[in-house]
Amino acid sequence: MKIPFSPPYIDDDVIESVCDSLKSGWITTGPKVAALESELQEYLKAKSVICVNSWTSGATLVLRWLGVEKDDEVIVPAYTYCATAMAVMEAGAKPIMVDISSKDLTIDVEKIRKAITPKTKAVITVDIGGCPCQYDKIREMLSEEAVIKQYTPKTDTQKKLNRILLISDSAHATGAEFKGKTITQWVDVSVQSFHAVKNITSAEGGAICLNLPEQFEVESTRKYFKLMTLNGQTKDAFTKNQAGAWRYDIVDFGMKINLPDINAAVALAQLRKYDYLLQERKRVFEHYHSLLSEYHWAILPPKSNNNITSVYHLFPLRINPITEKQRNKIIENLSKKEIATNVHYIPMPSLTLFKNLGYKAEDYPEAMDAFSREITLPLYPQLTNQQVEYIVRNLVEEYYSVLNKNK
Ligand SMILES: Cc1ncc(COP(=O)(O)O)c(C=O)c1O
Repeated sequence: MKIPFSPPYIDDDVIESVCDSLKSGWITTGPKVAALESELQEYLKAKSVICVNSWTSGATLVLRWLGVEKDDEVIVPAYTYCATAMAVMEAGAKPIMVDISSKDLTIDVEKIRKAITPKTKAVITVDIGGCPCQYDKIREMLSEEAVIKQYTPKTDTQKKLNRILLISDSAHATGAEFKGKTITQWVDVSVQSFHAVKNITSAEGGAICLNLPEQFEVESTRKYFKLMTLNGQTKDAFTKNQAGAWRYDIVDFGMKINLPDINAAVALAQLRKYDYLLQERKRVFEHYHSLLSEYHWAILPPKSNNNITSVYHLFPLRINPITEKQRNKIIENLSKKEIATNVHYIPMPSLTLFKNLGYKAEDYPEAMDAFSREITLPLYPQLTNQQVEYIVRNLVEEYYSVLNKNK
């Protein structure tokens, strides 16, 4: 039985939505993006949503809006995809990596506190695998007097905010909740990814979801973000294309990161059936849980509870005891049986780019430990219970075989 890791969910509704866009005579940013922004705004309870062509470009734009520059610091977890830190670098600031909590693999709140300096302009949390961070503790810590006192704003936006900006990297977590509120409601800005393997996809894409405090007027802030996704142009191409509406101005040094309608069409059809997709993800997640819970060596990712509502993006299984070499061997053996698994994540400090910049893997013991024993199992709505059982049966077999143990 061949099991891919994360195929996209493409059904007749998705195909019809894309065909609708193709037949409409308008394929780049237009009505489909407008519909996606408005439906996401309602679903995520954002004040406004601006679609972009990736998480990375969206997060970069948010940091450019904040006005970060050389010597400014943005705190990120060490255990995430490289884009979290690279958006900070692209915007011209320095990523300060901190370790994670071994409990749920999210950023360690105490370590954020220790990393804050007068140079800190933002914190980016990562809702890994669809599981939200400890937002009550993070918010509380960011509003402590000692933290506020250190804040040294430089730009008008920073002065207006007058505290560290909290951004969530919700690339894995569209729709996840913490203590009954959406992640967007807990942070200033949450950024989504609609990359091909994400819960909702547009092949490539993302969304900036604004929840800024009231001193930031929603419509004018939205207008800024919208025009900055299109070269700083005052009119989007759809409006400019209407008869007689040709004149525009370029008012800022924007980026070219708008989401085309063709892509939005895929995400829109998926968002409209997201309840169903989440229910199926939950079924797969819980089936893994029930099958693996009898094995003392299987450390399972947290289920939803009173505080967290996960969106089951990944099933990051950790194994204990195991060495990194043994973990790699299990992955290799499973791949020979055509079961594709993955590892989330190779901690950023151990990647060449960051090593060369002076980050040291040994400074992040929890991230390195989690990495060495982690295997991400396939998780998507199309996966049947029978396939889950097949994966678990083979995983268990390989665990005992590679570790040379009896069941
Ligand atoms: C945690 C995390 N952050 C950011 C990204 C970057 O997303 P995008 O490819 O949409 O830029 C990803 C994508 O894999 C991710 O997993």
